[in-house]
Amino acid sequence: MGIEFFEQDRVFKLDTPKSSYIIGIVDEENFVGHAYYGKKCRDHHLGYLCRTGEAPFVPSKNARDRLSFLDAFPFEYPTHGLGDYRESCISVRTKGGHSAVSLSYTGHKIYKGKPKLSGLPATFGSEGECTTLELICEDKALNMEVVLYYSTFEDTDVIARSVKITNKGKEPVYLTRALSACLEIDNQDFELLTMHGSWARERKIQYRKVGYGKQGVTSERGESSHQDHPFIALKAGDATQERGDVYGIHFVYSGNFFAQAEKNQFDVVRAVMGINPQDFCWKLEEGESFQTPEAVMVYSSEGLDGMTTSLHKLYRKHLIRGEYKDKKRPILINNWEATYFDFNTEKLIQIAKQASELGIEMLVMDDGWFGRRNDDNTSLGDWTVNEEKLNGGLNHLVEEVNKLGMKFGIWFEPEMISPDSELYKAHPDWAIAVPGREPGRARNQYVLDLSRKEVREHTYESIASVLRSANIEYVKWDMNRPLSDIGSMELDADRQGELFHRYVLGVYELQERLITEFPHLLLENCSGGGARFDPGMLYYSPQIWCSDDTDAIERLSIQEGTAMIYPLSTMGAHVSDCPNHTVGRVTPFETRGYVALAGTFGYELDVTKIPQEDRDQIPEQVKMYHKYNDLVREGEYYRIASYSVNHEYDCYMVVSEDKREALVTFIQVLNRPNCKSRKIKLKGLSEGLDYTIEGEEGVYAGDTLMNAGILIENPWGDFKGRLIHLTAR
Ligand code: DGJ
Repeated sequence: MGIEFFEQDRVFKLDTPKSSYIIGIVDEENFVGHAYYGKKCRDHHLGYLCRTGEAPFVPSKNARDRLSFLDAFPFEYPTHGLGDYRESCISVRTKGGHSAVSLSYTGHKIYKGKPKLSGLPATFGSEGECTTLELICEDKALNMEVVLYYSTFEDTDVIARSVKITNKGKEPVYLTRALSACLEIDNQDFELLTMHGSWARERKIQYRKVGYGKQGVTSERGESSHQDHPFIALKAGDATQERGDVYGIHFVYSGNFFAQAEKNQFDVVRAVMGINPQDFCWKLEEGESFQTPEAVMVYSSEGLDGMTTSLHKLYRKHLIRGEYKDKKRPILINNWEATYFDFNTEKLIQIAKQASELGIEMLVMDDGWFGRRNDDNTSLGDWTVNEEKLNGGLNHLVEEVNKLGMKFGIWFEPEMISPDSELYKAHPDWAIAVPGREPGRARNQYVLDLSRKEVREHTYESIASVLRSANIEYVKWDMNRPLSDIGSMELDADRQGELFHRYVLGVYELQERLITEFPHLLLENCSGGGARFDPGMLYYSPQIWCSDDTDAIERLSIQEGTAMIYPLSTMGAHVSDCPNHTVGRVTPFETRGYVALAGTFGYELDVTKIPQEDRDQIPEQVKMYHKYNDLVREGEYYRIASYSVNHEYDCYMVVSEDKREALVTFIQVLNRPNCKSRKIKLKGLSEGLDYTIEGEEGVYAGDTLMNAGILIENPWGDFKGRLIHLTAR
């Protein structure tokens, strides 16, 4: 496995356990072309797939039709302005006002391991786990070096890519586009898989047929967003959940993105992923470099399930870091839906007391504990404890909670500033704004200009000093509005186009500092629910609040989309009160528990006020969490049936790595008259093992369970669920 260069053929072969990726160096000009990506091949002689032996032929054989070549060749990293009219990955603006770029291979390095990306989140792996190729290219006319990075993993079918661009000339050059990856694949009647959403309904799966022209998803909001997700997959027309070709690209980044698939005149699909070129312009002085964020590519011949397995493994083993990487998370109770802004020390202690008696392990104090914040109109930036609410101070509250045997967690929204705050009075220029325009408010707040060092310094110190003042073991880092009115009071006019990206780098720097100073802290990212649920944030926090929608039924599809590309261990999921605060639906407490079990598991309710029969179920749910969480967190996840598709029931399962244990979750959303039971074919078990089902008589062979299936009796009523626990004998 790993990466090899075949000098005679001028071919690079990148192998993962089940896939091969082949790059060819072509013609006298050393064009870098993409030859193959798909099921693993023994052979490396696949350079011919770059089609250089066919008309319009390479420029050395056919100079008169150079443009036809440039517009047909499958470039690894296509450039703008010289005759490739498809979507490009790089363009510039020179002193002379020109935009063209041309890249030729000049050399390469292949080595074990994987380099870090300075200031950026990225997947990682040891020398035994990864191999890296650096393909060095140059544009002689621009005096620019472009290094294409590719890293393969020994244990998962993923290739990580990024690009580093260096200005080797004397004059500054402006990068106006610097994407992270491009993939050229012959069309297989592809469908484009994307995830779309809104507040409270994030990451809903969407398919559309790939047509001629360009189609894709983007964000210009300064965050990965509720609306679109930095992920695209090309699913072959005949591919299913279990079989067929699927190519996915996921962006390890938390800001503006651009993800596109373009079917061209030759029926080849070019997919690209990177920072959105809209409002992006990065000045490179002599000797300076720009490092793009990482994009990860996955190929599966085993349908969507194969893609899911590879990405889950990648993120669990090679992206998430820190103490909680492989550890069970404490069951928390968060007071947001319980009290909103209306709380004080006494109320919180009351909640904590009852919660601790029921087995809940951590109290999280959400928004409203600082400044004069009694609603969402004020005080962001004033991170000092409101002692009118928290009489006795923060440390007193934390000590009281700790005395109950519980951990304590706290909410911050560090990136924001309220116009009505002491911070804004002192530093109105710290808000992102365009001079001469009153910046637009969202939730009555502005965004702090984190591209500025002094702003980052102040922000960090104000939250770190709160964390240093008491035994705080968890932080929920929220971000409740997108960016707008893009302007920094500090950046020069020709660097304003750097603000979006510098902002994201600022967020990353702050979170890196935080987890370095507080290595035992459990950090949960959040953005008005799940507007910044992306692989970039996962590098800093092992879990992210999935959605502000805590309704068990809405969560089925939100969690289905999320779990298609993220491990279950990352999905912040809580049991909340009914009627649900977002949709007004009433579901059984038991079902709410089953659905939250697929994520980090916790509570978001006033335990002192919920009905006694619900409260009585909490100790059982706590037991259920402790019994199954190792399996849920570490097991392989399989989608069996989707409520979004069949409109009646949802079913998924997790299987332990050794295949000796499995848990099936079945949620009947709407009961179906005259339908006694449903047949469910299980997945991921060992054909050769025999399994028993907890609470039932009998032994089932693994192959029987997967090929013939089991019958699940329809529960009586809507919104009912069941867990089915299987153990190998
Ligand atoms: C949005 C979050 O998603 C909620 O859980 C809550 O923390 C609020 N913000 C608080 O303002």
